[in-house]
Amino acid sequence: MHPKTLEDVLNTYREHGHLLYGESVTELQHALQCATFAQQAGEPPVVVAAALLHDYGHLCHQLGEDIADQGVDARHEHIGANRLRGLFQDEIVDAGRLHVAAKRYLCWKEPGYFDQLSDASRQSLHLQGGPMTNAEAREFEREPHFEMAVRVRRYDDMGKVPEMKTPDLDSFRPLLEGFLTRRR
Ligand SMILES: [Fe+2]
Repeated sequence: MHPKTLEDVLNTYREHGHLLYGESVTELQHALQCATFAQQAGEPPVVVAAALLHDYGHLCHQLGEDIADQGVDARHEHIGANRLRGLFQDEIVDAGRLHVAAKRYLCWKEPGYFDQLSDASRQSLHLQGGPMTNAEAREFEREPHFEMAVRVRRYDDMGKVPEMKTPDLDSFRPLLEGFLTRRR
């Protein structure tokens, strides 16, 4: 179901956030950790919001990231973007849509990036198409919000810390409110 309000989105995290992200943290912990790491790095609120919401699609198909173990790529980044488009500003939606591509891009762009990925991320990378080719990377750089997606990706890679303390979901509500499109 497509969320119509911020409350619908928050409820999805409340109802399905307990699902395992797959690396000893839940989906909700992962989202809160990514947002918290972005905040700690001094990122502007728009990046913090995008970091929080980037895996929304995981909570929609309710399989968790470890579905890669089953050889399945559910394209959760597209599911999430489709659900959130129109409710949140495009740069936030696109950062989520492109966060998997950003991993493939960084594998192309930065020597050493691949080596610091978690086992699950390396495994899913294979299913997601592996590192970008030169042509794919040039095309990715033409995406309107690709830089934002790359920034979010770095916090995505960090948000896998068992037992990490973060602010709770509701504390991010005012921040998220600021990026609603108000079209609804
Ligand atoms: Fe993620």
